[in-house]
Amino acid sequence: MGDVLEVADVSVRRGGNIILSHVNWSVNEGERWIVLGANGAGKTTLIQLVSGRMHPTEGRVSIIGEELGKVNLSELRPLVGLSSSALDAKIPDTERVLDVVRTAAYGMTASWNESYDQEDDGRARSVLASLGVDHLSERKYGTLSSGEKKRVGIARALMPNPEVLVLDEPASGLDLGGRENLLRSLSDLSGEVAAPVMIMVTHHVEEIPRGFTHALLLKDGAVFASGEINEVITSKNISDIFNVEVSIEENAGRFSLRS
Ligand SMILES: Nc1ncnc2c1ncn2[C@@H]1O[C@H](COP(=O)(O)OP(=O)(O)OP(=O)(O)O)[C@@H](O)[C@H]1O
Ligand SMILES: [Mg+2]
Repeated sequence: MGDVLEVADVSVRRGGNIILSHVNWSVNEGERWIVLGANGAGKTTLIQLVSGRMHPTEGRVSIIGEELGKVNLSELRPLVGLSSSALDAKIPDTERVLDVVRTAAYGMTASWNESYDQEDDGRARSVLASLGVDHLSERKYGTLSSGEKKRVGIARALMPNPEVLVLDEPASGLDLGGRENLLRSLSDLSGEVAAPVMIMVTHHVEEIPRGFTHALLLKDGAVFASGEINEVITSKNISDIFNVEVSIEENAGRFSLRS
């Protein structure tokens, strides 16, 4: 199976700072990755690269075999669905939830006068249903709770049927029930045969959904560890990247932490 994403010796510099330094990472068909690291480790920058939102300063990034810089970013973007609170914040409060999702087929964040065919309508309803929020389709986006907004943002990212789904801290700001419900939806999604490759950024091992297969740990803009999840999410590695002594336990695919 070929690489879905390939990051080869990538560095990113901004305003005199080295944000990513010589990062290598490859993601294959059928894998579900966690990207974990402390605040400022470079997680969001890395996923901006692999979702075709920015170019590296040095090195090579390929998305489904297409190299960044050799094709238009606008051609690569529909291949990778991205959900983040920064993107959610751009959605107008007055937009109807169904339109929030349908407009994603056109790579926009507000609805104009596109003529949606029935296929788009059906797909929007089905991605909302897969995140358990189809009952909200007629609501105004601004009236949703934070957990509901996160689900709608993920449905929106899934709308163009991307090859890769990238989630930047999808569980942040959710209460325990909201987090567990979302993680269950992500586990269910990751188990579907036709599911895209998934990449989820988080700070917390407790937020790793069941079914995720690999993890990439970033520290100070460099890869600290990368590989199969049980080999990477260890007490020693997590203690090292957060500079605090912790003990990690894994139980039936979920991780817990003791300080
Ligand atoms: N355009 C920029 N100019 C200068 N510094 C930047 C720029 N973008 C990001 N940085 C810096 O790069 C570092 C990594 O940022 P990034 O957003 O990738 O971190 P992160 O791992 O996602 O952190 P968090 O967990 O807080 O979201 C931070 O120190 C940030 O301040
Ligand atoms: Mg971030």
